[in-house]
Amino acid sequence: MQKLAILLALLSATAISRSDATATATAAAAVRMQLTHTDAGRGLSRRELLQRMAQRSKARAARLLPRIASGSVTPGQLADGVIPDTEYLAHFAIGTPPQAVQLDLDTGSDLTWTQCLPCVSCFDQALPYFNMSLSSTLSVLPCASPKCQALPLSSCGKQKGWGHDACVYAYAYGDKSVTTGLLNSDTFRFTGAAECMEAPGMAFGCGVFNNGVFYSNETGVAGFGRGPLSLPSQLKVDNFSYCLTAITESTPSYFLLGLPANLHSNAHGAVQTTPLIQNPKGPTFYHLSLKGITVGSTRLPIPESTFRLTTKGKGGTIIDSGTGMTVLPMEVYKLVHDAFVAQVKFPARDFLFETNPVQDLTDAKVPVSQLCFSVPPGAKPAVPKLVFHFEGATLDLPRENYMFEIEEAGRNFTCLALNAGGAGSNLTIIGNYQQQNMHVLYDLAKNKLSFVRAHCDKV
Ligand SMILES: *[C@@H]1O[C@H](CO)[C@@H](O)[C@H](O)[C@H]1NC(C)=O
Ligand SMILES: *[C@@H]1O[C@H](CO)[C@@H](O)[C@H](O)[C@H]1NC(C)=O
Ligand SMILES: *[C@@H]1O[C@H](CO)[C@@H](O)[C@H](O)[C@H]1NC(C)=O
Ligand SMILES: *[C@@H]1O[C@H](CO)[C@@H](O)[C@H](O)[C@H]1NC(C)=O
Ligand SMILES: *[C@@H]1O[C@H](CO)[C@@H](O)[C@H](O)[C@H]1NC(C)=O
Repeated sequence: MQKLAILLALLSATAISRSDATATATAAAAVRMQLTHTDAGRGLSRRELLQRMAQRSKARAARLLPRIASGSVTPGQLADGVIPDTEYLAHFAIGTPPQAVQLDLDTGSDLTWTQCLPCVSCFDQALPYFNMSLSSTLSVLPCASPKCQALPLSSCGKQKGWGHDACVYAYAYGDKSVTTGLLNSDTFRFTGAAECMEAPGMAFGCGVFNNGVFYSNETGVAGFGRGPLSLPSQLKVDNFSYCLTAITESTPSYFLLGLPANLHSNAHGAVQTTPLIQNPKGPTFYHLSLKGITVGSTRLPIPESTFRLTTKGKGGTIIDSGTGMTVLPMEVYKLVHDAFVAQVKFPARDFLFETNPVQDLTDAKVPVSQLCFSVPPGAKPAVPKLVFHFEGATLDLPRENYMFEIEEAGRNFTCLALNAGGAGSNLTIIGNYQQQNMHVLYDLAKNKLSFVRAHCDKV
């Protein structure tokens, strides 16, 4: 009954919707953060890795749909067949003394939150839940604080023990997952390769009601979008970069915030640079200007407008470290699919992967269709080149960044690691499988994205 009372107090408070507020930044900083891939060290087969990546990409595309912008957030109405979409976990600690968190690195949202006691509804996690009372540096932010005002949806909590005007947030994702709790301020502690960096006064959500599709080994989400509450915004960094190791490797990846990233050391080929575009209808996503796609020697007949943001701020092309395989609008995917079928000299098969190969996460069925080519013993079939043309930059993918070799029913196949988005979405998402072994720098000060091939296990 007490849990129900807390939940009602949280959700019945009058919701105020805002979109135009800004938050003040706290600290300028440099941070090196270790990332682990969600499937690393689990002993999964290549076939399982491919299917899980495909299913997560599909779930991810649903999560990135426009989030519930205003009005009341009703928990419990999840989109059908959604599964956890976590790709990389970011490891750091919050509070004094530090309490460890491992958060889903998400360039598609802004709020950083972790599950907190007392849980009204929490999912299982490997680490202890965050206990606010244990931190001597924690404070609950008041409703009138700029960071509370920067939330898309918040209200004033009058709960006993939380102060008389505590900032209560409800943050929803496009797949209807939602987290609700208090917006707090505390010290974040990042342990890099050598040094520990402390960032005091960081706003984060202490989620006591967390409902939806979250991977059980994460404790919440780290928001790396472009909005005022995101980690790069709060840390006041001018840039960040990452270099992701291949998902079949065990070497961890690194994420650098505000450190000088020398793209020329350890690089292969020319550094490519393209503008980062801001969506006037919502600051969060990192939009790019994609112009076209080439398969083999054929530039596909796709109007450029297909990849462009609409005047209502919908669709367009984003780069996202939280999506595995690149997701293309259905019609675009069909053209790419058919070009591969026409140009590869081996028998094509569309595999329909339905059931989840690893039952520990979820029972949800997320059917995904993957284009594969049968490979005769000993052969490595030639595949056409796959090139993405951006304004001012060319992403000429190495084979291992778009093909994936698997064994199925005792035979070898090479599969195209791209997905089609759901009906009703024209969003193109450049995913992390296509960014493996590439140094990717987001220059927030100059609004530019640069990338170059690199050996990420040596960065
Ligand atoms: C949180 O920490 C406080 C202070 O040590 C402790 O009294 C309380 O029992 C803890 N809460 C839970 C639910 O463990
Ligand atoms: C879950 O997290 C714990 C603690 O960080 C770690 O020891 C464990 O290996 C993780 N499990 C998986 C399946 O990633
Ligand atoms: C990234 O930003 C830092 C300061 O925040 C700056 O010193 C560094 O030169 C920048 N790196 C690049 C590659 O722009
Ligand atoms: C599949 O490919 C691997 C690696 O090239 C090879 O060792 C294996 O024998 C092949 N399996 C079949 C059934 O052809
Ligand atoms: C997606 O784009 C196509 C072609 O431009 C258009 O006909 C369709 O209405 C769009 N769908 C959505 C959901 O915006």
